[in-house]
Amino acid sequence: MNAGIIGIGRYLPEKILTNHDLEKMMDTSDEWIRTRTGIEERRIADDQTDSSDMAFEAAQKAIADAGISPEDIDMIVTATVTPDTPFPSVSCMLQDRLGAKKAAAMDVSAACAGFIYGMITAKNFIETNAYKYILVVGVEKLSKITDWEDRNTAVLFGDGAGAVVMGPVSEGRGILSFELGADGSGGKYLYQDKYIMMNGREVFKFAVRQMGESSVNVLEKAGLSKEDVSIFIPHQANIRIMESARQRLELPPEKMSKTIHKYGNTSSASIPISIVEELEAGKIKDDDVIVMVGFGGGLTWGALALRWGR
Ligand code: ACO
Repeated sequence: MNAGIIGIGRYLPEKILTNHDLEKMMDTSDEWIRTRTGIEERRIADDQTDSSDMAFEAAQKAIADAGISPEDIDMIVTATVTPDTPFPSVSCMLQDRLGAKKAAAMDVSAACAGFIYGMITAKNFIETNAYKYILVVGVEKLSKITDWEDRNTAVLFGDGAGAVVMGPVSEGRGILSFELGADGSGGKYLYQDKYIMMNGREVFKFAVRQMGESSVNVLEKAGLSKEDVSIFIPHQANIRIMESARQRLELPPEKMSKTIHKYGNTSSASIPISIVEELEAGKIKDDDVIVMVGFGGGLTWGALALRWGR
């Protein structure tokens, strides 16, 4: 049995913070941010909206899209580094608010690779027949751990949520291969003290190497070639990092999902948000091969190849 995505949804806060708005808040420029990162604007959640609220909105859409009811869900896995509270977890909050009465619930902490970690966790419960339907959520309210006086980090991040329902899919579809990894010795390059602390250059070097390598590895593991890829969905951290991974896969620009200009880096939410964007643009069809890859604080990374369709 193969595990795949059977429903998907996302939520983005309404408030837009543009590069020009940031120019008024700190010593930066629209030109610097756009050329160094590809970001033009990002969404910021208001004070009344926390991660669980955004996750709830995205999850409701994913469950409706899957055509199941909350009572059908066996497990909830939320990838986040910005939970409302260390405990209870966002997943437990969702379990209650959704009315997912029989669902087990836990959060996963793997920063921007968290959504891939969550999907692979779900895949294994589904493919061993332990559970049938698992809700996997990526959500971040990074604005609450951003130092708005630090131009090195404040320009990069945004808030948002994406969710998928995973379940059994027909033969040949679903997750075909994956790779997960971690290198705790690089923890010092990206961590949360009170706010996000980052050595941008070190993270950049790591990301360029890992995103390319992991993407190539999952294709190889699935017995696929670069030409088989219909769409490449990298974690949206920096357009230059994304571009280098795309070139490593020898893909034309139109095969890479790009949402960073509108939403910035939303960490674990960036991949599911981008999948919805591509679906809405009609760029994902049944039997398309999708490669997803993420990297983040930890350091962590994860990639998977998936054949779309139920
Ligand atoms: N506006 C204007 N100037 C700035 C800004 C800003 N917002 N930020 C930094 N600068 C300055 C620096 O101070 C530096 O000036 P200096 O040379 O006088 O010291 C200059 O710009 C160049 O800095 P670099 O660090 O060389 O810039 P670089 O081209 O490396 O880009 C960036 C920086 C965008 C942060 C890049 O290194 C990067 O994207 N790294 C990866 C970061 C990342 O992806 N993090 C998220 C990981 S995911 C997660 O887990 C949350």
